[in-house]
Amino acid sequence: MFESFSPAPPDPILGLTEAFKADPNPAKVNLGVGVYQDENGRTPVLPSVKAAEAALLGSETTKGYLPIAGDPDYARRVEELVFGAGRESGLRARARTAYAPGGTGALRVGADLVADSAGRGRGAWISAPTWPNHRGLFSAAGFEVRDLPYFDPATSALRRDAFLDALRQVPAGDVVVLHAGCHNPTGVDPDAAAWREIVAIAAARGWLPFLDSAYLGFGDGVEEDAAPLRAMFDAGVEFMAAISFSKNMGLYRERVGALTVVAKDTKTADTVFSRMKKTIRVLFSNPAAHGPLTAAMVLTDRMLRTMWDAELAAMRSRLHAVRAAFADGLAARVKDRSFDFIRAQRGMFSFTGLTPAQVAFLRETKSIYMTADGRANVVGLLPGNLDRVCDAIAESLRAAG
Ligand code: LMR
Repeated sequence: MFESFSPAPPDPILGLTEAFKADPNPAKVNLGVGVYQDENGRTPVLPSVKAAEAALLGSETTKGYLPIAGDPDYARRVEELVFGAGRESGLRARARTAYAPGGTGALRVGADLVADSAGRGRGAWISAPTWPNHRGLFSAAGFEVRDLPYFDPATSALRRDAFLDALRQVPAGDVVVLHAGCHNPTGVDPDAAAWREIVAIAAARGWLPFLDSAYLGFGDGVEEDAAPLRAMFDAGVEFMAAISFSKNMGLYRERVGALTVVAKDTKTADTVFSRMKKTIRVLFSNPAAHGPLTAAMVLTDRMLRTMWDAELAAMRSRLHAVRAAFADGLAARVKDRSFDFIRAQRGMFSFTGLTPAQVAFLRETKSIYMTADGRANVVGLLPGNLDRVCDAIAESLRAAG
């Protein structure tokens, strides 16, 4: 059996982490995987999370199974966070949320749910470019994956008209994967007016929006960043949302996510929920407990929630500060192009515009790692390496143009 298998290429993001770890250069810089680093280059456990974990370990009395869809209190807390106050009765009527192992797990459960229940072979539309795993997981779930025009490299901005026009052509019944905010890899999001159009087009055309929300709170704040999800809900559109606490609670390895399905009415929501549970049962049977119960406690306990809000605000303000320093550092060294777009992009990533050859130059000659598409995780820039990285990028623009 196995002799006939051909080797798979390394993952474009997680494979890069392996290469970074193996690099013996003490001055190496990791601008690859989307993991938050503080000014010392560390990814600490958030104090709010540490406190919740300690309380949980002290009070835990069993390791028995949780229900297939996870702890109902976790689901309610997730919905409250994402959809905000004032929508409680609407959520009870139309929304159903299940635990999923991270944002990826939520995307896969949602993809399998649609493929198993509505039929394989339908289209899944993704932005060009997008996080590479979108393509992989939707094709693995039996979708025909198709690109939507999204990013214009000439202007480093959204191809607004082309994107909206393409959404108008998506057939009813297909799935459209939308980044809820802090678009990965470009950092370029539709503005509020464009989101209004997206919601209206989804409502009119009948395709299923699937909002990937992996960076809630990393843009302008939880309330602001949740606006597209809330607008979709308020418009009465049917949609799915993949929620992740990997980044905003720093729970990466605990795999804490959720899939929310919003249906047109209660009967439909209950039917979809029954099918969600069936899908989960054959994928991973039933949920992990530690991560989601930790997240639920942080969201529930008033003191922990206040701590987490401040921790998230601190991560966000570092993202904004480092973006500005990166843009200034490059502008001071490279006079014939503008780097203002770095300031305008949102979230963890900056789409630098570097070519694959320039990225390879940085990695091979300077031990500076970013993904081949030129995406840089800006929080890998630290006070001790910012100048060196800006110097190296300036050199790469001259050397490997
Ligand atoms: C990333 O894009 O770097 C992160 O979302 C991590 C991952 O799973 O790819």
